[in-house]
Amino acid sequence: MSDLHKPSFIEKLSKKIFLFIWFFIKRTNPNAARRLLYWGITDQAFLTTVPRDSVLETHALGKTFQNPIGISAGFDTTFKYNDELVRIGFGFAEFGTFTYHKDRELEQTLFLSNQKAILVDTASWPNPGLQYLQKQLIDRRRLPHIAGISISSSIETEDKDNKEFYAMIEQDIIKSIQIVAPYCDFITLNLSHPNMPISNLIHMPFQLANLLHTMKDHIERHAPILTPKLVVKIPLETTDSNIPLLTDVFLQEGVDAVIISGFSGSKSQKQRLGNSHLKGFLTGKPIMEPSTLLLNKFYQASKGKITFIASGGVFNGEDAYRKICAGATLVQIHTALLYKGPDVANEINQKLALLLRQKGFKSVNEAVGSQYF
Ligand SMILES: Cc1cc2nc3c(=O)[nH]c(=O)nc-3n(C[C@H](O)[C@H](O)[C@H](O)COP(=O)(O)O)c2cc1C
Repeated sequence: MSDLHKPSFIEKLSKKIFLFIWFFIKRTNPNAARRLLYWGITDQAFLTTVPRDSVLETHALGKTFQNPIGISAGFDTTFKYNDELVRIGFGFAEFGTFTYHKDRELEQTLFLSNQKAILVDTASWPNPGLQYLQKQLIDRRRLPHIAGISISSSIETEDKDNKEFYAMIEQDIIKSIQIVAPYCDFITLNLSHPNMPISNLIHMPFQLANLLHTMKDHIERHAPILTPKLVVKIPLETTDSNIPLLTDVFLQEGVDAVIISGFSGSKSQKQRLGNSHLKGFLTGKPIMEPSTLLLNKFYQASKGKITFIASGGVFNGEDAYRKICAGATLVQIHTALLYKGPDVANEINQKLALLLRQKGFKSVNEAVGSQYF
């Protein structure tokens, strides 16, 4: 790890004051704490260390990542914090999820402090809409660090078997690709919301294959030189019987990576934690084990031929190491940032580097899939 910036006394003091205030607000008003964090990550006091450790350098998606830890979708739906996220230790960022049309459906978050978890109560992906963000993207030019953009469609239907519905989704996704393709390194088709009709494609391999095929064509057409990779994010409740079918579709359509997984919509998960009466989808610690298991099943089914990005419950270096051993090349976090604050990516990276060396690995890539569950 190399220190790029030695914090001054004032910066150290301001960091302590920020963490103190933020800790108390977090307990009383999680939504306000989230907003405060956006201010915190832009404070010089947190921009102190950048991981530059050769054991953390990771090759994936045709790029070299300085470290494998990324911020997952849902944290930045404005493209405002790309620089800051990298300067607080992240190796990459995923922006969005965006839909073509503006979606202002309110998102409520509730911290379950004793379980290091969050309940996210939302029927869709709240975001300003890509048609409105287009100018912002053009002004910024290409995003400066390794960056993905997550897209989805909020088109509703009463009849999930309706062919016209899938044609409408396709048009929606194509319009989003036209806007984002020139500006990012990967585009994620987000199918991870347990209640959005587009996620039904997980159970419809033929339609999914068609959509992925069309997406690839359009990505190449709209960004023929620096062509972004195609990534798919799947829900935690993907069933075992779907794994071989989905694996075939991902391999056949040349999907470059799969994110496993999004938050949990399972009632039994919440019941186990004694929160079945509360509304919302579960993230954080309680989904670490189920999402790691699902990742490992996919890794085995694909015989190491697919690149996986882990998401779900990573709070420390040990968790990240476990995800890599289960088959992930890159690891995303979200809830941990909201719980532990802006130092979390650096903390995870330091521990991960230590663990990789202790176990005799020279790189992250060497450790991928080294343990079957
Ligand atoms: C407040 C909040 C908003 C989220 N919004 C999105 C989103 O827009 N798109 C998405 O794919 N996932 C979203 N997620 C899910 C995360 O990206 C991640 O997959 C999930 O939280 C599991 O990881 P974690 O346990 O590290 O938080 C959101 C999560 C949280 C906590």
